[in-house]
Amino acid sequence: MRLLAPFIALVLSAAPALAQAPLSLEGSAAPSPWQRYPGWNKTNWDKYNTLANPTATPPSGSEIAVGAVTGDPARGQQLAFDRNRGGGCLACHVMGPKTLETPGNVGPDLSEIGNAGRTDQWLFNYVFDARVYNPKSVMPPWGKHGFYTEPEIRDIVAFLKTLKTPAKFANALDDPEKRPTPVEDRDALDPFVNPAAERIEAGAALFKQSCASCHATPQASFKRWAVEMPKWEPRLNKVLGAEEFIARHAKAVAGKDWLMQSRENTDMSVYLHSLANGEAIKVDLSSPEAKAAYDRGVKLAELKVGQFDFACVDCHGQAANKWIRGQWLGEPKGQFDHFPLWRTSRNEVWDIRKRFEWCNVQVRANELPPDAVEYGELELYLRKMNEGLKLTAPNIRH
Ligand code: HEC
Ligand code: HEC
Ligand code: HEC
Repeated sequence: MRLLAPFIALVLSAAPALAQAPLSLEGSAAPSPWQRYPGWNKTNWDKYNTLANPTATPPSGSEIAVGAVTGDPARGQQLAFDRNRGGGCLACHVMGPKTLETPGNVGPDLSEIGNAGRTDQWLFNYVFDARVYNPKSVMPPWGKHGFYTEPEIRDIVAFLKTLKTPAKFANALDDPEKRPTPVEDRDALDPFVNPAAERIEAGAALFKQSCASCHATPQASFKRWAVEMPKWEPRLNKVLGAEEFIARHAKAVAGKDWLMQSRENTDMSVYLHSLANGEAIKVDLSSPEAKAAYDRGVKLAELKVGQFDFACVDCHGQAANKWIRGQWLGEPKGQFDHFPLWRTSRNEVWDIRKRFEWCNVQVRANELPPDAVEYGELELYLRKMNEGLKLTAPNIRH
């Protein structure tokens, strides 16, 4: 073996350097200035953390002293059940016999919290800002982050104290402990079932026009390309995902402005991913830069953001495999082996960055532009969680 080492070094240095794919290194790969999609709310949550601004959220403060809480339990129930006030408590808790349809079970069943011997001060502070008792709580700081006023929280506490009877469910599906977990078994490659499958041909047509002059045999050349993305790109000093590659390469070699999340960019991404269908996902963390970017990705997944103060791992880790209202929360493994995909609830093809943006906005955090450095690092982390799984793209989800 000792004799082999210098020989290998010789062979490597004698081999011609592999050609690097030309990239346009200047400017943004996404529309700039970035704007939220038409149809999305325009609210900004500048006071709260984003993935790019981790210190905006005000710190939690300390326990508030309250005496005996009096309040209006009927008003409290109305507030607790109201979906317009940040989603309401039933998103995560069952709350006695009056519980409305499809509650979630991220939090404990509170149907008998009135018998649990909790002090008023505990209940008040748990609702105002649970972080004073549990810094990792996945319960939003309802008072501290301005969802409910203090008098409203007193009403909610008055309601909680009336809860002394187990819930009864009219319909078995309403019980989050018994609700069957969703199974995605539609045939993703049937264009009658999955409208994203039609986009494979649209992408192939673009490829023929703008790319085939240099890549005559894409089926062979790019059989594994999409499952080896994202990757660390020294020329940009960031993690490069498939869609940002497409934007920067198309600009450099064909003068095309196929910015991320444009129709052409997404179609090309669908096509290139389809070429790698069935291949096992592989992540290259061999360089120190890639490993460091991955480590930052892990930290980003743990960062609490937005008015709701949720981290990715709150919903997809601590609360994974539970229901948040009627929505099942998946765990990271199995989440990033089937993008891009068709979202039936939105009638759109989504790449992974659009999914990240959505998961930011739903916790009331400002989303980042699709080509943000932080999304690249998060993508690398999530891909690592899915390493070894076989790509099934484009897929379909609700
Ligand atoms: C996103 C999910 C989520 C929502 C929404 C939510 N909670 Fe919670 N809640 C939890 C979790 C999880 C716990 C368990 C402890 C923890 O993680 O801090 C909890 C714990 C509690 C506790 C403490 C229970 C005990 O044993 O002392 C109370 C009280 C409570 N929630 C009330 C509420 C009220 C009132 C609302 C609506 C204003 C609400 N929760 C909304 C997730 C949630
Ligand atoms: C002018 C020639 C040229 C054109 C046109 C061209 N490419 Fe490339 N492409 C290259 C070169 C050179 C490389 C690097 C060597 C290689 O991998 O073949 C490359 C590499 C790639 C790779 C592999 C990248 C990697 O990570 O190593 C992909 C995927 C790709 N091109 C896609 C496309 C697409 C999509 C188009 C159409 C927008 C396109 N190319 C048009 C020259 C071109
Ligand atoms: C408030 C809870 C919540 C938070 C926080 C959250 N997500 Fe999600 N996420 C969801 C829900 C609900 C869905 C749709 C149901 C599902 O597939 O899990 C989803 C779906 C996804 C999917 C697609 C899953 C699939 O199988 O197609 C990915 C990927 C994802 N989230 C990543 C993230 C990342 C990364 C973060 C952190 C930036 C994050 N999520 C934060 C609730 C959340």
